[in-house]
Amino acid sequence: MSEFSNQLKAQADLGALIGEYVKLKPAGNGFIGLCPFHAERTPSFHVHAARRFYYCFGCHAHGDIFQFLMELRKISFSEAVEAVAERLGVEGPRWAPEDAAGDAGERRDLLRLHAAAAAYFTAQLGASAGAEARAYLQGRDFPPAVWDRFQLGYAPESGRGLALALEADGFAPALALRGGLCQLRRESADHGASAGAVAWNGLYDRFRHRLMLAIRDERGRVIAFGGRALGAADPTGRTPKYLNSPEHPLYTKGRVLYNLDLAREPIRQLGYTILVEGYFDCLRVFVAGFENVVASCGTALTSAQVAPLARLSKKAAINFDPDSAGAAAAERSVGLLLEEGFQMRVVALESGLDPDLFLRRRGREAYAQALKSSRSFFDFLAARAAARFDLRRGEGKVAAVNHLLPFLSRVHDPILRQSLAENLAAQLGLDQPLISRQLLQAARQRQAQLPPRAVATPGLLSAERVLLRAWVEQPERREEIETLVGAEGLLEGLASETLWEQLRAASAAQPGSGWEEWAASLEAADRHVLAEVLLGGEAGIDGALEEALEALRERRGARMVRKLQASIQQAAAAGDREVLEALLREKAAWDGRNR
Ligand code: UTP
Ligand code: MN
Repeated sequence: MSEFSNQLKAQADLGALIGEYVKLKPAGNGFIGLCPFHAERTPSFHVHAARRFYYCFGCHAHGDIFQFLMELRKISFSEAVEAVAERLGVEGPRWAPEDAAGDAGERRDLLRLHAAAAAYFTAQLGASAGAEARAYLQGRDFPPAVWDRFQLGYAPESGRGLALALEADGFAPALALRGGLCQLRRESADHGASAGAVAWNGLYDRFRHRLMLAIRDERGRVIAFGGRALGAADPTGRTPKYLNSPEHPLYTKGRVLYNLDLAREPIRQLGYTILVEGYFDCLRVFVAGFENVVASCGTALTSAQVAPLARLSKKAAINFDPDSAGAAAAERSVGLLLEEGFQMRVVALESGLDPDLFLRRRGREAYAQALKSSRSFFDFLAARAAARFDLRRGEGKVAAVNHLLPFLSRVHDPILRQSLAENLAAQLGLDQPLISRQLLQAARQRQAQLPPRAVATPGLLSAERVLLRAWVEQPERREEIETLVGAEGLLEGLASETLWEQLRAASAAQPGSGWEEWAASLEAADRHVLAEVLLGGEAGIDGALEEALEALRERRGARMVRKLQASIQQAAAAGDREVLEALLREKAAWDGRNR
């Protein structure tokens, strides 16, 4: 295996391989780009093509192509070797069974399971059972070439077809359960059958009578499914429009962007990403020839989703649904993308038309035109604020300014920030010199207050907001949230840390009161932030808490790993073997957790 990997390394064009993940520019006898392993705004990541290694002067990350892939994609060495072999079209040796042990083995089994399920669903779409689904797709103007390209499928109504197919393929029932493709029958569940003891006849299919969309990872491997109910919406709302795979070791909702594998290269070439909400929007935009498109799939965008995009290009055109939920989601995404240093435009389509409908009714020329004439994100935000607050009244103006300031303060470039603030004052009719001066001053101050290292992530993360809101709005979960935050240090070092501590102290001191009273004991700036989080937010937060906790956990893990990496460098330089080993063990534990 080491011989094979060495051969691969010699053949691989390091610049091209790394260039698939990092935007590189030629420099000296290699390339330079923004380091994918730490947040930075000036490139310090070097690729020495001839010597076949990379090195970051900022965070000291270094290694060969395998190390790069292992670190970046959190995969094992053998998976990295396999990835390079696959990329180069080289047939690799089959790994010995011990390579597939433990976690890697389960991941591999889940990949095989999903490949088999995708084959089953696509076959069903072509079979007699799939007639209705085929008619549905034709009716929506998606021809068979699109079905193949995107592995569209059909899950039959019977509710046992997939289970039978997987059983015939020799898969273990526990695996199908683990991957969320099958569920325990009620009787089996009631009899307390554990996942280990489960038998095929105790399982039925999770997806029934649905049009199936295969969700692929960055390498194009199927890792989950989204199933769309056929026909019109269920007025009772009992069957959801989309049923998605539950999370499992291959699939974390907040990490996947739909279609990123196919869009990667176009994004790099075109220099920007088109971000849509829905699966079908994504398909339509892609087949219309705008291949640099990915879908967020209706979840609030997370930094884990954005990170792989940022490596390709830091420009995005947001094209969410024109309804108010879509606009609210666009606004949230703007906030997150700003934190990650993106430049963005917001595409506005004629009212009532999502990207899918727009392309069908108006055609690709009109869509290209809409992309071209998309507005700066800030005009979009200002228009939203103008519609939401009564700008004829003083309070309305103040509320609008307060609403927009956090966005403004996330803009990195001070000159741009200044001119945006001026624009904003003009657009909102804040002609009184006093208000615009206040606004400019506040924009400057907020930026100045940010801790220097956190420039990339000033303000509150959306996960912090969700957590604060859940804590306030769901008293029954308060204790649980406090325990988690405390035990795992989830808010440590984040912008809301002092706010959180003060708020908890206040609630402990006045247990009978509400947050309005507790807020009275906060510093003015924190009170302002809290009010903004609680009053300025969008509709419900149900279900979002788990996602937020996961995002915070991930950030915390990443912070720990960065810290440890620095200590590891020091210990290595000092030659302190014992300390080094302890640190490496600790880092391995965090890496495991961050997976
Ligand atoms: P939409 O309701 O806009 O769906 O939700 P869509 O994809 O545009 O579907 P069509 O065009 O009406 O058929 C946007 C995305 O939100 C996620 C899906 O990923 C969907 O594509 N979603 C929506 C869910 O996960 N569950 C739901 O019940 C609804
Ligand atoms: Mn939609």
